[in-house]
Amino acid sequence: MIDPKTLADRFPGDFLFGVATAAFQIEGASKADGRKPSIWDAFSNMPGRVFGRHNGDVACDHYNRLDEDLDLIKEMGVEGYRFSIAWPRIIPEGVGRINEPGLDFYDRLVDGCKARGIKTFATLYHWDLPLSLMGDGGWTARSTAHAFQRYAKVVMERLGDRLDAVATFNEPWCSVWLSHLYGVHAPGERNMEAALHAMHYTNLAHGLAVEAIRDAAPTVPVGLVLNAHAVIPGSDSVADRAAAERAFDFHNGAFFEPVFRGQYPESLLAALGDRMPVVEEGDLAVISQKLDWWGLNYYTPMRVCDDPAEEAEFPATLPAPFVNPEKTDIGWEIYPAAMGDLVADLYRRFDLPDMYITENGACYNMDVVDGAVDDQPRLDYYAQHLSVSADLVRDGYPLKGYFAWSLMDNFEWAEGYRMRFGLVHVDYDTQVRTIKKSGLWYRALAGQFPRGN
Ligand code: NOJ
Repeated sequence: MIDPKTLADRFPGDFLFGVATAAFQIEGASKADGRKPSIWDAFSNMPGRVFGRHNGDVACDHYNRLDEDLDLIKEMGVEGYRFSIAWPRIIPEGVGRINEPGLDFYDRLVDGCKARGIKTFATLYHWDLPLSLMGDGGWTARSTAHAFQRYAKVVMERLGDRLDAVATFNEPWCSVWLSHLYGVHAPGERNMEAALHAMHYTNLAHGLAVEAIRDAAPTVPVGLVLNAHAVIPGSDSVADRAAAERAFDFHNGAFFEPVFRGQYPESLLAALGDRMPVVEEGDLAVISQKLDWWGLNYYTPMRVCDDPAEEAEFPATLPAPFVNPEKTDIGWEIYPAAMGDLVADLYRRFDLPDMYITENGACYNMDVVDGAVDDQPRLDYYAQHLSVSADLVRDGYPLKGYFAWSLMDNFEWAEGYRMRFGLVHVDYDTQVRTIKKSGLWYRALAGQFPRGN
């Protein structure tokens, strides 16, 4: 077992260790204090969409257990908390009326963190779009980008004086491709044209929100959290290597290129340009404003090979088999080195600012036995990926911190509650929280900071 103290010694004294969550996954209280439904409330109540038709009505009941959960974060020895703000609590219909009690909740959350000496990293959009906005087309409509800009302004005017950092979006890959092309996430659409609209309007919403944030709270560092894919060709053949480049453009380039280079990937435009929405003059300038930081969410690599079928749509790839036999309980290949290679590749390709690993973690579904959870494989996963993180710092990449996903077991989207990512176990019948073995280990590591060296 990697000794947490030895590992801690490989990080600089001001490296930030944190834990992460997201509103819909933990808060519950879905009808409390004026909150209106999000697309995930609707989606999880449709048959066949979420495992066991689980929903977010109660989740970890965090909304009603805020103080005890903030104490738990403190107890975890970390210095940073990455959480998301629920748009449907703040502006329940997406546009129009502002809901003060919703803002009050995040006021208490932020103040509670401050009182405990925990830095606040807020995400404005972690997938809970107000359901009412679907009437206009949700993310496939340009008006949603403007609605998001106003929401960003409202949040930052209220909380901006106490946030240590803000991210506009979490994993637009999921809220665009997984939600509008692959149909796995809400709203469950499978349509390339719709997905391309969602792509551009999400990117635009990001840029418009950056403007609003800088107006309302100029000193808060603004970033964007991307689940960049470590794309690996299934073989060394020319066709598979070309397939990996196309996959890179589609899965990463669709977000990295507009944000960090002010353009869409040429290959994507060549293949799909006729189905793109109108990119208005000035859009790309808004989207590509300089950011203060970006966040990487990394779990597993993406192995692809060429799809030779004539009708295969761009990027025309098929999944290639795992190379490492080891996988987590959700079926994802474990490959820590790919995280390091990915960061190096991204800094080679783009002019990127400081970064955080905003999510990394593993799904293992062990239960409580005699008051403890022995999740050694999760501990090993963390140790290996943190070791790669320390290498990145050593090699000069501007990696400033690491957030474990997740503080506690929670609603794992289409997988419902059956897939557990927490450092802390949640018993959903009693809401009892139990720090797992991995959580105790992470606490021993994070507790070494700050060291002031
Ligand atoms: C990415 C997402 O941001 C988070 O919501 C999710 O639970 C984890 N990855 C695990 O899938």
